[in-house]
Amino acid sequence: MLKNSPENIKKAAAILRTGGLVGIPTETVYGLAANALDRNAVKKIFAAKGRPADNPLIVHIADFDDIIRYNLVKEIPKSAKKLAEKFWPGPLTMIMKKSDAIPNEVSAGLDTVAIRFPSHKTAQQIIRTADIPLAAPSANLSGSPSPTSAQHVMNDMDGRIDAVFDGGMCDVGLESTVITLVTEIPRVLRPGGVTLEQLKAVLGEIEVDHAVLHKLGDDAKAASPGMKYKHYAPKANVILLKCSDEEYIDYVNKNYKYGVAALCCDEDIPYLKAKTFSLGKRNDYAAQAQRLFDELRKIDENSDVLTVYSRLPSVDGVGMAVYNRLIRAAGFEVIDLEKI
Ligand code: TXA
Ligand code: MG
Repeated sequence: MLKNSPENIKKAAAILRTGGLVGIPTETVYGLAANALDRNAVKKIFAAKGRPADNPLIVHIADFDDIIRYNLVKEIPKSAKKLAEKFWPGPLTMIMKKSDAIPNEVSAGLDTVAIRFPSHKTAQQIIRTADIPLAAPSANLSGSPSPTSAQHVMNDMDGRIDAVFDGGMCDVGLESTVITLVTEIPRVLRPGGVTLEQLKAVLGEIEVDHAVLHKLGDDAKAASPGMKYKHYAPKANVILLKCSDEEYIDYVNKNYKYGVAALCCDEDIPYLKAKTFSLGKRNDYAAQAQRLFDELRKIDENSDVLTVYSRLPSVDGVGMAVYNRLIRAAGFEVIDLEKI
């Protein structure tokens, strides 16, 4: 594990320049980085994660003009400039038509490329020092929750990659918002730290891909290939309850037995009989986003937890991102108490 120091920034950059893999901190989640312009380096990412080859990677840059400098896209849409002015650097990934400089391994054979300029200072320093764009998916093993600390990356990736750079806990805690700008109307493929409301304020009309809030049919084609895979699933069975706060406490207590736990809010803790994993204050969606993956990993460390009850989150603001991740962790299993 590399601690934060100027020498270690140089070390990480040198590994990346020579085709190696480094776990790097970003403000969203830790990324598993490699030189985006080197197809052999990029192939190592897929091997280390056990990631299906048809799931494309995000290219990370440290300046808007890097898009031009590295010749990453065919053309930059006006909407990309507007969004970048407002949300870059930050947790927003934009999909544009790719240039020939992007290896097919990065785009997984699509004719588009996803680009993000992260706000995390260490990520920026590593990208600038390496002087290359970095392809980086989340630095977890495929199928487990995204890592929000260097230790999470070590737990999943130790022995599979060349180094992990410790940049502390991630601020946002969930992966970036992914928006495609190649459709007639810009479309959110994955909700994240930049909210739908914020995007609409800049671009006006925006669509939300069906797969963001709903289960894809078995033969449906995913606009964002990552959305079709079972994601973020802890070993315990997560069940979401659609209900009021009182009904939630009541239901979890009535169903309490060995193996039952609650993924809840601070305010619920005194009333619940089950073991609790709290996401923070009830109305603090940002805190819930930041803690979700950490709590899911903690649940995994408790082998006596078999069933976890949580509430179906609101889809307002960052809540939509929490909803999107939790409903996948639950394998889309929701009990609607209002209908029982
Ligand atoms: O916050 C983040 O975005 C983190 C940090 C490390 O930057 N990265 C991340 O990467 O979450 P990953 O690979 O775990 O998720 C990328 C998502 C996947 O669902 C993938 O299918 C989608 O973005 N994606 C990437 N390129 C795409 C493209 N050209 N078209 C459609 N979807 C794309
Ligand atoms: Mg991921």
